[in-house]
Amino acid sequence: MSRSDTAMPRALVARAPGQPLRGAINAPGDKSISHRALMIGGLAVGETAIHGLLEGEDVLRTAAAMRAMGAEIARDADGTWRVHGRGIGGLREPEDVLDMGNAGTGTRLLMGVVATYPFTSFFTGDASLRSRPMARVIKPLESMGARFVSRAGGRLPAAVIGTATPVPIAYRLPVASAQVKSAILLAGLNTPGKTVVIEPEPTRDHTELMLRHFGVEIAVEPGAEGDRISLTGQPELSGRIVRVPGDPSSAAFPLVAALVVPGSEVTIRDVGLNPRRTGLIDTLIEMGGDITIANRRIEAGEPVGDLVVRGSDLTGIEVPAARAPSMIDEYLVLSVAAACARGPSVLRGLAELRVKESDRLAAIARGLAACGVSAQVHGDDMTIEGCGGPPPGGATIATRLDHRIAMSFLVMGLAARAPVAIDDASPIETSFPGFERLMVGLGASIGPVQG
Ligand code: S3P
Repeated sequence: MSRSDTAMPRALVARAPGQPLRGAINAPGDKSISHRALMIGGLAVGETAIHGLLEGEDVLRTAAAMRAMGAEIARDADGTWRVHGRGIGGLREPEDVLDMGNAGTGTRLLMGVVATYPFTSFFTGDASLRSRPMARVIKPLESMGARFVSRAGGRLPAAVIGTATPVPIAYRLPVASAQVKSAILLAGLNTPGKTVVIEPEPTRDHTELMLRHFGVEIAVEPGAEGDRISLTGQPELSGRIVRVPGDPSSAAFPLVAALVVPGSEVTIRDVGLNPRRTGLIDTLIEMGGDITIANRRIEAGEPVGDLVVRGSDLTGIEVPAARAPSMIDEYLVLSVAAACARGPSVLRGLAELRVKESDRLAAIARGLAACGVSAQVHGDDMTIEGCGGPPPGGATIATRLDHRIAMSFLVMGLAARAPVAIDDASPIETSFPGFERLMVGLGASIGPVQG
């Protein structure tokens, strides 16, 4: 059983702090990049040194899984993680079930990794992960030769029976998913010949950038159907130094908090600014958010900068469906900004939110309604009626094993007229250890619910 199934619930409450948020912080390391650094480091020959790895539960599950397949992974006292990889083709069968906890990215990418090894591995996770569809990776990986045994609908627990004779595929993504793209590319690493993924809508490209950083030749050619991303299998990967930038999806919480608590001024340092991840920043600036980006630079192939954010009067906005992949994890916290804004906001193309750590489309509608904010779902779109200032609040929100519901509704509590509580803060550990301490350090009022 996963820790998240057994951990004691920890209720927290947030209220308007009555003072501006002020200070400078670092966002935790990027979750997407941390998973990839451990996996690709574990497939390289020689040592990979990772600085700034996210030490959240999801990433620690990936580290444990890679160790179970033979990679040596250790943490220095100064927080540097050192990985001694097995080389492409060098992983060994894990002796036990890989319990991935809450980690959808860890699971789907690792299913790709193991699909082209001649052994069987078993995956499970917490109640949230066991409810999520894996068919989207199972289908292409089966066409490369792997076999799967899963619960109905491709749900975990599942066994992956890897193939000794993988065949390369050219696969057009039916959903805009970086996880599916990455699973296929990682399977392609141990497959002779050329593996191709065609991506109709651009999604985060951390796998491509990281593989290139490790010496793999990856071609990206624009075409009528979208980008064609290809690699030739069985390359030599050699260990590298990786500096993990701050996660824009985690920076999103102090960012929106600073916008909606009047008079605030907060600097968030070293935030990853990959253009395929910055949809929320673009949207908040269009809403009138006072956000400036300082100290722009490139680290390990990824753009990075510091965000300087000031309390702002926001205006409602229409967010086009085409922007969804670049802010797919940020709609929950955007809905808090939209609730505080003047006028309605219309968010389009949200179908994928239904299959995240929880059904986030339902979570937004339910949570906003509980806080006295009107929101309607029409098909895959949503309209939120902004309050033009602090929303009513005064609710307790069920977090349903979803870290981003937990953090978003705490931010709501900082903005609202009456406090907002969450029933369980423990899922925050998956992506943002230290969230409560860091927010309190900025002046936020967040603390345990008094019994
Ligand atoms: C991720 C891709 C996205 C995102 C997830 C992380 C990744 O999922 O929601 O949190 O690291 O590749 P999808 O691929 O399902 O869109």
